[in-house]
Amino acid sequence: MKEKFNKFQIIYRFPIFFIGLFIYLIFKKNFSVFHKQLIYLNYFYNGDLTKIPFASFFFNSQEETGSISQLINKGYMIEEKFLEKEEIIKIYKFISKKINKIKFNRIEDFHLKLSENLKLINNNKITIENEELINEDIFKDIIKKKYVREILDNYFGNKKKIIDILSLSITQNMNSKTIEDSAQMYHYDMDRLNWIKFFIYLTDVENAHGPHQFIENTHKPGEISSKILSYGYKRLDEGEINNIYDNKLIKTFTGNSGKLIVENTKGLHRGKLPKKDFYRIMLTMSFTTSRFGSPMNKIPINNLDQNFKKYLNENRIEFF
Ligand SMILES: [Fe+2]
Repeated sequence: MKEKFNKFQIIYRFPIFFIGLFIYLIFKKNFSVFHKQLIYLNYFYNGDLTKIPFASFFFNSQEETGSISQLINKGYMIEEKFLEKEEIIKIYKFISKKINKIKFNRIEDFHLKLSENLKLINNNKITIENEELINEDIFKDIIKKKYVREILDNYFGNKKKIIDILSLSITQNMNSKTIEDSAQMYHYDMDRLNWIKFFIYLTDVENAHGPHQFIENTHKPGEISSKILSYGYKRLDEGEINNIYDNKLIKTFTGNSGKLIVENTKGLHRGKLPKKDFYRIMLTMSFTTSRFGSPMNKIPINNLDQNFKKYLNENRIEFF
């Protein structure tokens, strides 16, 4: 009796199994199609039509490197001509006043004199920050740029925006052994809840000048491998990164002076160390919407001129 029952089971189990498999496959297929449509809907919503099959045929299929949707989706956006030559010269004049105290007429003379001066400064990074910058017209003008306001409004929406880093840095290579404690190793920032950083090149940056690097997508939750997360604040070297991430995702931003990179530095990034006798000048601005997080040096705003204060008020921009 027992044996008969087993035979019966085997005969009927086959078709039941195949019917089950068939239903499962149909469900799985539809589910994945449904899931894909949700993803495409998201691309459509973000204006990233280039990722949708067919749509990319009708719309410009070139990467929109200067769009907010790219900043949201990939973690960075680029504007090649953010600053005009005249604006860069104003900053060079400011640097001359602060560092070499020598007047110059031509940009080449500025660089010649600065590189002589830099050799005398035995430091990889020279930084001029906050209060030393904020009362200079050129830096106020940069903060006031329409392009900056548009990025902030599009990214953060209606919330108030807080400037918590304003920093001008000159990076050179005096002693490469000191790189371990600097931003020249890959790391992710954890200063606040939500922020974006503006990196503005003030010199032409080729490979020798130590370009900024960012690993696409790593600003998104779950995209930094658990191995890296387990290191905590430890900074990572190139070899380790190359083992984990596809080369295509490692973005190296070379470009001319005046180039702007806006980045969500929750993602992995670093500034490469310049080669010997090369240097990079860069302005960094960080904007956040919440003061929650590590205490920062307050930027003193008592002496701000009325016009600038009015602009900040009207646009809901504050200093940390
Ligand atoms: Fe950083």
